[in-house]
Amino acid sequence: MVDKCVGESLTRRDALDKVRGAAKYVDDIDLPGMWHGAVVRTQIPHGKIKDVKLDPAFPWDEVCVADARDIPGRNCVAIIEEDLPLIITDEFKHIGEAVLLIAAPTREMALRARDHVKVSCRKLEPVLTIEDAKAMRSKIRGADNIFFKYKIECGDASKAIKKADLIVEGRYEVGHQEHAYIEPNGIIAAPRDGGGIEIVGSLQCPFYISKAMAILMNLPEDKISVRQATVGGAFGGKEDYPSLLAGYAAVLARKANRPVKIIYERDEDMSVTTKRHPAVVVHRSGVKRDGTILGMEISVEMEAGAYSTLTAVVLSRGLIHATGPYRCENVLANAVAYATNTPPNGAFRGFGAPQTIFAIERHMDRIALALGISPLEIRRKNMFKLGDVTSTGQRLTESVGATKCLDAVIASSDYKKRIVEIAKHNKSSQIKRGLGLSLYWHGAAFTGSGEAKIKAKAGLRLDPDGVIRLLVAATEMGQGAHTVLVQIVADAMGVGFSHIGVETPDTALVPNSGPTVASRTTLVVGSVLDKCARKMKAALQEFIGSEDSLPDDKLSNIVKRYLKERGPLTIVEQFQLPPNIVWDELNHKGDAYPGYSWGADVAEVEVDMTTLDVSMKKIWVACDIGRAINPKLVEGQIEGGTLQSVGYGAMESVIWNDGRLVTNRFQNYIIPTSLDAPEIETIIVEEPFSIGPFGAKGLGELPMNGGAPAIANAIAHATGLDPCSLPVTPEKLLKEMRISGNEK
Ligand code: MOS
Repeated sequence: MVDKCVGESLTRRDALDKVRGAAKYVDDIDLPGMWHGAVVRTQIPHGKIKDVKLDPAFPWDEVCVADARDIPGRNCVAIIEEDLPLIITDEFKHIGEAVLLIAAPTREMALRARDHVKVSCRKLEPVLTIEDAKAMRSKIRGADNIFFKYKIECGDASKAIKKADLIVEGRYEVGHQEHAYIEPNGIIAAPRDGGGIEIVGSLQCPFYISKAMAILMNLPEDKISVRQATVGGAFGGKEDYPSLLAGYAAVLARKANRPVKIIYERDEDMSVTTKRHPAVVVHRSGVKRDGTILGMEISVEMEAGAYSTLTAVVLSRGLIHATGPYRCENVLANAVAYATNTPPNGAFRGFGAPQTIFAIERHMDRIALALGISPLEIRRKNMFKLGDVTSTGQRLTESVGATKCLDAVIASSDYKKRIVEIAKHNKSSQIKRGLGLSLYWHGAAFTGSGEAKIKAKAGLRLDPDGVIRLLVAATEMGQGAHTVLVQIVADAMGVGFSHIGVETPDTALVPNSGPTVASRTTLVVGSVLDKCARKMKAALQEFIGSEDSLPDDKLSNIVKRYLKERGPLTIVEQFQLPPNIVWDELNHKGDAYPGYSWGADVAEVEVDMTTLDVSMKKIWVACDIGRAINPKLVEGQIEGGTLQSVGYGAMESVIWNDGRLVTNRFQNYIIPTSLDAPEIETIIVEEPFSIGPFGAKGLGELPMNGGAPAIANAIAHATGLDPCSLPVTPEKLLKEMRISGNEK
């Protein structure tokens, strides 16, 4: 018998190489004859190119210059729609679009060349905010500057609200958020014999890039290979953007006929790559005196930026999560995404949900206040339980951990006692304490029919070194995927961890298990591998003629012998969405996700009423993720996501000036450091989920939904103010104070 892997905190497979500095990030890769790329960009938010001049004082024959005419295929970066050009030719829609690409023998020379290009433009009126978009300050998308519009409707919200004892309204606002991964975006493209192209870089989704490359480079996908280098953080920021960067590098590599590397500087990365979508969420709820929510009207408006990229799915996920984890039979929720002349907003951990969950969680506290009941009571009264139906009409038939999470976090924070102590403390101190709650959910895997469409494939292969290797497109970006997936396979085969390896995520070597996004890797890819592993075990048992568990000490010999006697063996399986999961995309009705993960936070803060400075003391987080395959990694994900969320809640301000990013470095874009971080206590709740491997559900994004509202609610509790806009900065609190007339 081998030791079980699932449920054990095994050391991450990538840990040693990373701490020893042996891991190869894209900037560590040097190819023979490689040049370095730079991008000449637009400098105003909206306009038309008049003229591009190369300064004759520069030795242009020593570098390679490419423009849109050098794109072998179509000038579009395919993500979902095809509205995003790689290189602009006439009208452009945000600061930072590519006008010209340059490659040179050194990076310095490429950057010097960039400074010798003069672009002149005709200025067009820009749309910089949702208000501008609505007012049609300029027409930048369709007839109404609207990218996407969705509606969820169940029951009759307006009738239900009319019958309510009390109507509570609120307007909640959130800004952009920057991913702040430690490694900026970087890609190398290299021409291959026979006209193909090879891409290696810091990326989440190799197959997204090969799809985009096929169109841009006019190549069949078998002539394109995309490989992940070691990645220094992504958080969604390397989901869609690398397709654009790979396009720049590929066009240059093709023209210069040599490998080309492009690594962004921090300010360039922050200025032109994606961010979390800003949003305005308006709630109007009708409630009974006892706290029961009778009807909800919700409006969600998101700012998409200049091109559609992933906005359709971000908006949809935001809308589906907008009721929060609460039962309500009468919901009318509308969501609209507007175009603006700013860089496209894209994927960021949570993917639309942190925006709408902040809104509902602040709103729940404000309903409780209006009713004179506690934030705990209002949540207990309305939270989803087994058998409840969501606003899209999905019946929650299993693995509903909301109650357990709330109970766990209330108990471990000693919530009730703490509330009493805080009230006592606040009577006699200028440093006010506050306690804030949040309750949240997150749909695991792609929204709606996404998983049915993508039919993720993953495989296992016997290798000559005696190792059984995972074939997955799932990327390791620090979250631990390659460790967790190996643990699943090891236990499903009943063999030791060390017998299992992972093939490099390279489109030429692995099947398409889909992008590494949407908290889908453990659940979806893990469950496919679970199937593969059971078949692989059976194949090896048959080979050795024994139905007993595989002999661990002889396993690598068995693998080698199998290959010698029978030839190669690869087992590939496909994800099948259970047939009872049905989604109507057009009407946003049905089973929005295969299942949901749940979470609850209690945050404690101190607010200095003189400076309005907030210090985050402690946060308790309970997450129901079905099964913790690797508890230590789960804790890491919960801590990381929570910290990112409290940064979103109280610190991180993305500031723009006329469409130009002002906060383009870590000196002025302030994220929590170890000194700002609250102590985080994590509690793992396990309500097993039948679809997931060993009962596991999604985790990656979940904790991102909870920290911000818990902190905002704690600040409200401490100060008696009503902060409804993130991040809750001292400046915003001062404004609140002036409005409420409480300024001293
Ligand atoms: Mo993620 S935000 O679904 O890469």
